[in-house]
Amino acid sequence: KKINNHFPENFMFGAGMCAAQAEGGFNEGGKGISIPDLHKAVSPDKRKEHCQLNERDIEAYMQDTNHDLYPKRKAIDFYHTYPEDLKLMAEMGLQCLRISIAWTRIFPKGDETKPNEAGLAYYDRLIDEIIKNGMQPIITIFHYDLPIYLVNQYGGWQNPKLVDFYVNYAKVLIERYHHKVKYWICINQINLLFFEMFPSLGVFKENCDNYQQVCYQSIHHQFLACAKVKQFAKSLQDSDLMIGTMLADCLAYPYSYREKDILLADQRNQLQLFYSDVQLRGSYPAYILNYFKEQGIKIVTSEAELRLIKENTMDFLALSYYYTFAVNADKDTLDPKTFTINPENKVNEWGWPADGKLMIHNLRTYYERYQCPLIIAECGIGELEQLDEQQHVHDPRRIDYYKECLMSLNDALKEGIDVKAFCAWSPIDLVSSGSGEMSKRYGFIYVDLDDHLQGSGKRYKKDSFNWYKEVIRTHGDSL
Ligand code: BG6
Repeated sequence: KKINNHFPENFMFGAGMCAAQAEGGFNEGGKGISIPDLHKAVSPDKRKEHCQLNERDIEAYMQDTNHDLYPKRKAIDFYHTYPEDLKLMAEMGLQCLRISIAWTRIFPKGDETKPNEAGLAYYDRLIDEIIKNGMQPIITIFHYDLPIYLVNQYGGWQNPKLVDFYVNYAKVLIERYHHKVKYWICINQINLLFFEMFPSLGVFKENCDNYQQVCYQSIHHQFLACAKVKQFAKSLQDSDLMIGTMLADCLAYPYSYREKDILLADQRNQLQLFYSDVQLRGSYPAYILNYFKEQGIKIVTSEAELRLIKENTMDFLALSYYYTFAVNADKDTLDPKTFTINPENKVNEWGWPADGKLMIHNLRTYYERYQCPLIIAECGIGELEQLDEQQHVHDPRRIDYYKECLMSLNDALKEGIDVKAFCAWSPIDLVSSGSGEMSKRYGFIYVDLDDHLQGSGKRYKKDSFNWYKEVIRTHGDSL
């Protein structure tokens, strides 16, 4: 029996990318330095680890003009190549493109009151070009690229002043682009603070007596910042405008039917859903207050702040979907860096297990809990790939993975789960966020650059390019 995989007409097939991993041009147009500009790539034997940045290295790395050591400074040069790259994406038929704005292009240090016009002019051109190519832009306001000045001068997000700096920045963007951009993601993967080794909060573990306390206080500041952005968006009275939060999907399932595995999975999931519970339901849930008490964590806040959060909940939930995993109480703990890989899942070079078929399961959890629109803001598979002699890249695993994900997503839509868009990560190979390698490739379009960013930089269509093009053309029928 032929399964009907046709997606609802208003559903958008797209792709997602971000500034720090694609643009390069790190010292052009008045841009300031951000954390990713100081990331060095890990070596291939350590590729399961993440780029690190220690506070003591910041000054030396900032002065270092050996830019090839810092892949995100040059990346794939999207800052210059976007007109050509967008044409290829339009050829694929992408209906939406998620990008992020580099905070340091708009506010080079982060605490200025007036924006850098050259930075805005770049995004004026980029956004217009995306629209001209038939794609709806989706914007992430902050995707891991905190201005380094806010780290050095203010200690990052633990400082409540960051709330105003961020809101000032976000207001400039929303005011300027809300007629062109409907969906805004305030902060990329707000829940990943204990997962990533690199400090996107601008907080250094070694400086903290109670690291969890500092991180949760920083997150509280991010909740306030997002609520203020929502409050501002409401004041524009643009009924189209949607302000959202984003989680990296890290829902765990129990490794076995043993109650200790089931209960550990529950607790792990609470610690992930806490962020969206606050931002979509409007208050700190009792389970997290209990956890804070147990861990000696005290959040500095006030009635007025809690009211602000309550009155300005987010409009949608964006998700990234890369891996699924189990927890085994014999070896895993509440630490999200511990997990157990289901032996039936395929694992890539970086140790990420991929299982597209479970997408519906996780979407059900979110939708049943929040009943709000969802967007798959990222979903993809990182692979080692090379051009063959005919200058082709065959990427069957990517096609298989996307097929599983999209079929599962379609089942979710049929069930009534309101997913607005699917953004594959990524339209084109980028520098990996975690490992800083170019060789962790995600794109439908291959970029001829190696880990030291040596190569022609030329773009080539992979097999998945034509595959996704056909999925989009038939709106899912070809799956
Ligand atoms: C998400 C990030 O966590 O995962 C992206 O939002 C990132 O920026 C993606 O690129 C894949 O991770 P990585 O480390 O393989 O690039």
